[in-house]
Amino acid sequence: MSSSSDPPIVCSLPRVTIIGAGRVGSTLAQRIAEKNLADVVLLDILEGMPQGLALDLTEARGIELHNRQIIGTNNYIDTSGSQIVVITAGIPRKPGMSRDDLLKTNAKIVVEAAKNAIAHSPNAIFIVVTNPLDVMTYLAWQATGLPRDRIMGMAGVLDSARFETFIALELGVLPADVKAMVLGSHGDLMVPLSRYATVNGIPVTELLDAATIERLVERTRNGGAEIVELMQTGGAFFAPASATSVMVESILLNQSRLLPVAVYLEGEYGLTDVVIGVPCRLGCGGIESVLELNLTDEETEALHTSAESVRQNIRRSQEILATTIKA
Ligand code: LAC
Repeated sequence: MSSSSDPPIVCSLPRVTIIGAGRVGSTLAQRIAEKNLADVVLLDILEGMPQGLALDLTEARGIELHNRQIIGTNNYIDTSGSQIVVITAGIPRKPGMSRDDLLKTNAKIVVEAAKNAIAHSPNAIFIVVTNPLDVMTYLAWQATGLPRDRIMGMAGVLDSARFETFIALELGVLPADVKAMVLGSHGDLMVPLSRYATVNGIPVTELLDAATIERLVERTRNGGAEIVELMQTGGAFFAPASATSVMVESILLNQSRLLPVAVYLEGEYGLTDVVIGVPCRLGCGGIESVLELNLTDEETEALHTSAESVRQNIRRSQEILATTIKA
């Protein structure tokens, strides 16, 4: 029994902040709440938009059988004390644009969001989703000053899910039975590792010929653009939100899942001072370890080429940011 002199019981439920209430951000809010993972704060600069989405999601709670709080806001104060901050804010691609074309606009948006968010949630783990993903993760890492185990980018889980989907469609098997890893940058130079793709342990190289695998690899590299071309307005959001929710889940539930994650490298794979997708164990502390696979010379070269293009864009974005700050 409690008496009036007892201190109040404070129930601290996990809280995830999502910055950017666009289609990826709002779908992610839905996934997190409906998986019952955490309360969600959805923040956007557009007044009314996150509040409306939060109310809509709240009204679905009884039907979806969960009791998670979903708050919509334009104010970073409401994000205070989040365990995880996901940055999805930024402009999406239009048909014909590459992810790198977004650099100029999104660099500013992501840096500002990262600085505001860390000021209110100094202990949070950050997941960046805004494109160009690897560069934006690097900028957010710099802006927050976080150790690399607490800041990462989502792309490899999405790219791997696409590769798995295309393999499953080709073979006519259950997608969940296909496992694959796509490393490298989230762009045309991503590195799908066909050698490590399996159907319940059977290497796909035993099930499909080299030309077919190459066709599926190409479709994976072009996976985001294929959807942008079809939709004409905006890009994919269901699978990106699912992929991000898997990372959130692995962290909040301390699952230690081994997932391809964009992380700041400190010598692994012969790469330093660059963010790129490699296999990482994700648990309650964020990135628990980075796994170094034994890659062939060809795979290593592809990873290094991918990293070099990220490096060039990091330099470009830093020049852009320096000019904007001076202006
Ligand atoms: C895509 C975007 C999220 O690949 O980059 O669809």
